[in-house]
Amino acid sequence: MSKVLILPGDGIGQEIVAQALKVIDHLNENENLGMELVHGLVGGTAYDETGSPLPQATLDAARECDSILLGAVGGYQWEALERDLRPERGLLGLRAEMDLFSNLRPAILYPQLASASTLKEEIVSGLDLMIVRELVSGIYFGQPRGIEIRNGERFGFNSATYSESEIRRIGHSAFKIAQKRDKRVCSVDKANVLEVCELWREVMIEVAKDYPDVELSHMYVDNAAMQLVKAPKQFDVMVTSNLFGDVLSDCAAMLTGSIGMLPSASLNKDGFGMYEPIHGSAPDIAGQDLANPLATILSVSMMLRYSLNQVALADKIDNAVNTVLDQGYRTQDIASDGGSVVGTNQMGDLARVSFFFNPCGPLGGQNIFLFREGGASREGAKNYRIFPSDGPLKEKKKGNANFFTIKRFLHWGNTGLGFFMKRGPNGKVSNPYEFPPVGSQGGEYYGKVMAVV
Ligand code: IPM
Ligand code: MG
Repeated sequence: MSKVLILPGDGIGQEIVAQALKVIDHLNENENLGMELVHGLVGGTAYDETGSPLPQATLDAARECDSILLGAVGGYQWEALERDLRPERGLLGLRAEMDLFSNLRPAILYPQLASASTLKEEIVSGLDLMIVRELVSGIYFGQPRGIEIRNGERFGFNSATYSESEIRRIGHSAFKIAQKRDKRVCSVDKANVLEVCELWREVMIEVAKDYPDVELSHMYVDNAAMQLVKAPKQFDVMVTSNLFGDVLSDCAAMLTGSIGMLPSASLNKDGFGMYEPIHGSAPDIAGQDLANPLATILSVSMMLRYSLNQVALADKIDNAVNTVLDQGYRTQDIASDGGSVVGTNQMGDLARVSFFFNPCGPLGGQNIFLFREGGASREGAKNYRIFPSDGPLKEKKKGNANFFTIKRFLHWGNTGLGFFMKRGPNGKVSNPYEFPPVGSQGGEYYGKVMAVV
């Protein structure tokens, strides 16, 4: 039994987390995940309700939970607030309070989305790199910092600081991850200019001695930025400081074509983690059913893998996402290849449906999915959206003459699988097993109902 704090945050955070919850519900109902959910506030939404972007209640809840799932924070309406009240402070505060020093930001190119990248396919195809970013120190947190008047003008300053132990622990994180991958770590710094980076490099070399099976290289951050767009596949694990990691991880994410696909994990020394999509709160598209929920859904997978020791279920989530992409479903941000464009909600429904197929692969041509709306029970729903698995989305209203009459479902159990039956004009119920494969006959759809969600 695990306990997870759900923090949707601001902007698209609300709607993308709602889709991830569909996946968690599915795993709770059908796979004995046993995940208990606690809901909390963070960011601008928290400020509006409580006057603080990180209310004490949220911190207390975080300390009682095994992990956090976070949507995103930030929005135009909070930009004018004083620094300590801004939504980003909620996020930075959680990182600091929970000591989430190790930020894992994978950049994986899904083969189905190779054409979504702005880089040539041969440069990015097969890309799978991991940025390990130090998250609770460096110039983000160093003291002194501020803006003051010096010599009659305003003067702004921050301090890039790292202690030896802070570098050492992020080094160990990176090497341990590399051991499970291609066993190469590239440490990114600016040791030609900054003393703090000179120390960074020295300590990385010391840490490397504990991992003789892993190869360590060093790169200056300006060159690393260039190499990321020139030949990104040369990298396996990149380890770097807070600020450099912030910049390089956005760059790496874009190599994959959509930042909307990438999850992240922020871990402390005990394996407690905060999981969130790499992208931000995107206030410009919030509430319009346009956001891509897959990065958040994949963040749940990372949580199961890195904090909750449920690797098999994590694999199932990854397979479900692959299945949806294989089927050609795309949110608008990844729609460059002409697949069927669906909204945030439908993408969440599709991800949930895809769990019924294991191993992953095409869904087959004889199945129908029903998505219920406006009713708590399957029988009481007011409207069903129909997805024939082999064709485009069709919508039909219940009560519409063309809509098939759902009289009874068989074999629900816990699986959600079943068949629908149709009452013929003579009032007789046909044998559900005798329906022919999905097709259109007299304007009606019929076939095997694989899932109602
Ligand atoms: C990120 C974000 C944050 C950061 C902001 C929102 C404070 O850009 O997680 O990369 O700079 O760390
Ligand atoms: Mg960033």
